[in-house]
Amino acid sequence: MKVLVATEKPFAAAAVNGIRKIVTEAGHEIAMLEKYPSPDKLIEAVADADALIVRSDKVTADVVAAAGKLKIVVRAGAGYDNIDLAACSARGIVVMNTPGQNSNAVAELAIAMMIFMSRNQFTPGTGSEIKGKKVGIHAYGNVGRLVAEKAMALGMKVMAFDPFVPADVMEKEGVEPAASLEQMYGECNFISVHIPATPETKGSIGYDLISAMPAGGCVVNTARKEVINEVELEKVLSDRPDLKYITDIAANNQAELNEKFGRRVFATPKKMGAETAEANINAGLAAASQIADFFATGNTKFQVNK
Ligand code: 3PG
Repeated sequence: MKVLVATEKPFAAAAVNGIRKIVTEAGHEIAMLEKYPSPDKLIEAVADADALIVRSDKVTADVVAAAGKLKIVVRAGAGYDNIDLAACSARGIVVMNTPGQNSNAVAELAIAMMIFMSRNQFTPGTGSEIKGKKVGIHAYGNVGRLVAEKAMALGMKVMAFDPFVPADVMEKEGVEPAASLEQMYGECNFISVHIPATPETKGSIGYDLISAMPAGGCVVNTARKEVINEVELEKVLSDRPDLKYITDIAANNQAELNEKFGRRVFATPKKMGAETAEANINAGLAAASQIADFFATGNTKFQVNK
C-alpha cells in the first residue's frame, strides 16, 4: 500500500523518520508531500495513494474525488474539521484522528498565552500575575483537562463547562463545574477555549458571552477561529476597553483588530499550538501506527466517520 504524508506545515524531522520506519517496516511504501504551495499539488499526489496522513491540510471533496485508491485518512491531531467527512464516507473511506497526542503542546501554549497577556505582551509596564485568578475551561476534553491541571499547579482557580463530562468527574480533579456557559464567562478572568468547530459551535462565542466577563477578562483561543463570532468580538472589544483576546488562529478581521485594539489582542503568525517536536512525534507516529494496524487487522478504533 502507498501511504502519502501530506503536510503543508511539515512534521519535525524526528517525526518523519519515525513515520517512515513504521510504514516501511509494516511493508508499505511512503511518499512525502511537504510545504506544498497549492491544493492542486495534493490533488496530484493523492492519485495513487491508499492511505493519507495530514495535519490541518484540507481534504476536500475534490481531493477525495482525485484519490481513486484511497482507503483511509488519518488526521495527525485532534480536530478533523479540515476533512470532508461526507465525501469520505460516501466512498467508504475510513477517517481517523489521533486524540490526545498533541494535547500537552496546545495546553502549554494556552498557559503561555495567559501569562503573555497578563504581562502586556512582554512590553514595559506593570502587568499582573495569573496566580489567584480564575480560568474557565470551555470544553473539558484532552486539552482542557491539561490546561486545568497546569493552571491549578500555578495557583489558579479552575472552572469548566462541558455538557459531555459529569460534574463529579470535574470535582474529583479539583475543577469547579459551571452550570452554564454564561455563569463561567461571568466569573472567570480567563476563558480558555477548547471546543471543536462544528455546525453547532461555529460563531457560538460572541458578544453576550464575552461581555459577561469581569473587568480585565481575556479570552484565549487555541481551538479554531470559526467558533468565535468575529464581528461581535470586534464590537465587544470596542464597547469594553478592558477586555482582551489572544488566539493561535488569526481571525479573518485580525488586521483590523490589531489596528484598533493594539496590545489588547494578539494572534500567532501561524497556528503553533501543536508545533513541538514531542507533539509531532506523538501524533505522527500514532497516525502511522493506526494506518499499519488498519491494513493488518482492520482496526478502526479511532474512526470518526462510523
Ligand atoms: C489539532 O486539531 O490537532 C491542532 O489544531 C493541531 O493542528 P496542526 O496539526 O495543524 O498543528
